[in-house]
Amino acid sequence: MKTIKHIKELQEHLSFARKTGKSIGLIPTMGALHEGHLSLIKAAARDNDFLVVTIFVNPTQFNNKEDLKRYPRNFDSDLTILSDYPVDIVFTPSEAEMYPSEEKRQFDLSPIDTVMEGKFRSGHFAGVAEIVSKLFEISTPDNAYFGLKDFQQLAIIRKMAKILNMNFNIIGCPIIREKNGLAMSSRNQLLTGEQQAAAPLIYKTLLKSKELKNSLSLSEISAFVKEQIDRHPLMQLEYFEIVDDVSLMPVTSWESPANKIGCIAVQLDEIRLIDNIYFD
Ligand code: PAF
Repeated sequence: MKTIKHIKELQEHLSFARKTGKSIGLIPTMGALHEGHLSLIKAAARDNDFLVVTIFVNPTQFNNKEDLKRYPRNFDSDLTILSDYPVDIVFTPSEAEMYPSEEKRQFDLSPIDTVMEGKFRSGHFAGVAEIVSKLFEISTPDNAYFGLKDFQQLAIIRKMAKILNMNFNIIGCPIIREKNGLAMSSRNQLLTGEQQAAAPLIYKTLLKSKELKNSLSLSEISAFVKEQIDRHPLMQLEYFEIVDDVSLMPVTSWESPANKIGCIAVQLDEIRLIDNIYFD
């Protein structure tokens, strides 16, 4: 496993790998690796001959400076973890390497960047699309891997790739959960003991809402989720929406033929956690 900081050097390695007939799997991350990331690497290792993991805490996707400051950075332990996996390259560029000029690269991501996360994290998806488009262009992988916990992010990335006529595979991998049901996230490390004890309520509530699907209307389910979360003294619901998994627009009736996914964001003091569940 080689750690590389510069685009040129990464591209030399990739071009050699390609010349020798190897397929390339890309796993973009912001580090603070957990089992969720490792599941992406395992999936990539099954499908590809040559794996590139990127670690870059991308400043342009943080709409809140404090959030960027506190985002966990465990670079040395990330490298130790990765050394147990068949990773060929860990790409760890600097900010200057990824953003050599002030100019912004923008995509028309509407309307899927205006709902759910888009309402609460202004500019977040523009930053995600910007950095992932650069990583895609730099590495031109055969397959790229993302977690389904960030369901809306995946839809944004697919849309950006379509705009750029990129036609390699973008693969969404299942959410990996703690034993208590909490979806794995780098942000979980920031939770206090009390918050850690409280956080599994998020998935429990999603499971319960799915169980209630046959007896409650869509708006009653939303009210149920709000009541369950908001009555916990450490939690506040930011949103819960049941949406069409392709358009990401709210579903208006259970009879709709759309695949329905319930997406949730919860605030625990300064920390924000997201999760989702399919209702079909
Ligand atoms: O999901 C993440 O960790 C980030 O949003 C990503 C896709 C690596 C882009 O910075």
